Amino acid sequence: MVDRPPPAPAATGRPDPDADPVWWKHGVIYQIYPRSFMDSNADGIGDLEGIRRRLDYLLWLRVEAIWISPIYPSPMADFGYDVADYCGIAPIFGTLAEFDRLVAEAHARGLKVILDFVPNHSSTAHPWFQESRVSRNSPKRDWYIWRDPAPDGGPPNNWLANFGGSAWEYDAATGQYYYHAFLPEQPDLNWRNPEVRRAMHAAMRFWLDRGVDGFRVDVIWHLIKDEQFRDNPPNPAWQPHQASIDRLLQIHSADQPEVHDVVAEMRSLIDEYPDRVLIGEIYLPMERLVAYYGPDLRGAHLPFNFQLIFAAWSAPQIARLVQEYEAALPEGGWPNWVMGNHDQKRIASRVGPAQARVAAMLLLTLRGTPTLYYGDEIGMENVAIPPDCVQDPWEKNEPGLGLGRDPARTPMQWDASPGAGFTTGTPWLPLSPDHRERNVEALARDPRSILTLYRRLIALRREQPALHAGSYLPVAAEGNVLAFLRCAGAARLLIALNFGQAPQCLDLRPHGIASARILLSTALDREGEAPGPMLHLRPAEGVAVALE
Ligand code: GLC
Ligand code: CA
Repeated sequence: MVDRPPPAPAATGRPDPDADPVWWKHGVIYQIYPRSFMDSNADGIGDLEGIRRRLDYLLWLRVEAIWISPIYPSPMADFGYDVADYCGIAPIFGTLAEFDRLVAEAHARGLKVILDFVPNHSSTAHPWFQESRVSRNSPKRDWYIWRDPAPDGGPPNNWLANFGGSAWEYDAATGQYYYHAFLPEQPDLNWRNPEVRRAMHAAMRFWLDRGVDGFRVDVIWHLIKDEQFRDNPPNPAWQPHQASIDRLLQIHSADQPEVHDVVAEMRSLIDEYPDRVLIGEIYLPMERLVAYYGPDLRGAHLPFNFQLIFAAWSAPQIARLVQEYEAALPEGGWPNWVMGNHDQKRIASRVGPAQARVAAMLLLTLRGTPTLYYGDEIGMENVAIPPDCVQDPWEKNEPGLGLGRDPARTPMQWDASPGAGFTTGTPWLPLSPDHRERNVEALARDPRSILTLYRRLIALRREQPALHAGSYLPVAAEGNVLAFLRCAGAARLLIALNFGQAPQCLDLRPHGIASARILLSTALDREGEAPGPMLHLRPAEGVAVALE
């Protein structure tokens, strides 16, 4: 039996392109993992000056904004997601002066700069935590989450850390445990404490005043925990080959109702500055995810939507999840789509190189802001990391389960030189051996490459109000074909994607074929073609057809 989306769906989204020309709605966000983007000083680690030198590439690609993963001073236990100073730059990445220069030069090119903000936890090296751990009476004691041991001396409750083990670390100096949702080196801040909120808001202002265009807020759904610290229940679906965190359902340790006040406060602060964006990192089921738009849309502008990362790669499944997402969005809430990031497997490895091109077309033609992970535009794949090169603490803590994130964090492949144009030193993670062929320089010259496809798709998205602002209407999700319409004013674009390895046919007659014209095919060789009443799709081909 063929899975179908709900019958006779209506178009979703208001097709009013010019009413709302907001950059974070219309443009593409490009995520830079700074350690791996471009190294300017041969230490094998990417840096701010490296990003600056590659701005013209981003301009050429025509993305709208860059989001840079954390660049703050840090012991790098979790590669910058353990912040020791919220208002500085880690020396390996550069200086504040270099940061200011990067922002100025990005802005001069019309590129926005989004920072990663990590408010849920600091590093144990942060002076706040240093002060907090000194004594139970420290003025900063309540800035973190300290609890007495259980009667047997063990941890205060059963909560688990995301990277393995208990989420509680015993601190002998004061005889209490502190809570860490991630590594023991990442103690959680206590967001119920107004002083913490004030300090964090000051840090946000520090960067907004320097001109950053917004924040991607790390694990925003974690900020508030159950006031009574109740045990999490077991997860009946957990299997031993899965991450140990998934033994329990995280119902008390995250996503508490009070978190929405915290998000709303951040949003109010952001709104004091013109034209900024608040993005939240949220891994939750659909209905709980969309709550982060906030009551009256006073929450995050864009609660990151990771559905495409976890969806089975099949036309009916994806049609269904798009439909469910569109239906779940609050009135006026702007959708967004993420295909990959520094915590997930590379899209080209998840679906294979042929379908990676279909994935590109899907990401860039759905309704809502697309976020593109560096290197996906050249089809980078997961890179096998030899055991002695492993960097990710998660892989070190829970080896062999495939949880490690290093494979998707390898250096950007700029050219065929020994350091791939990324470094003249020794890269901090191994380069993919395919960098000699798969690199920006080679693929930019190749009119059929995946990079050319990404660039053409981004350009098409910019040119066509139907794509960056139009409504969405499902058309077909049968077998391996997913088809939908994007419409704005009189313009109608049909997107048809073949998720399979056999040719497919789509009947265009119900949609009007008199003026049908192919604008773009993932194969990059059918532009201008007028399809007959039957639209033919080759294996793993996607097309965008104008039906004006
Ligand atoms: C987020 C980040 C991830 C990090 C974790 C802890 O999920 O994306 O890289 O390890 O938070 O900060
Ligand atoms: Ca460097």
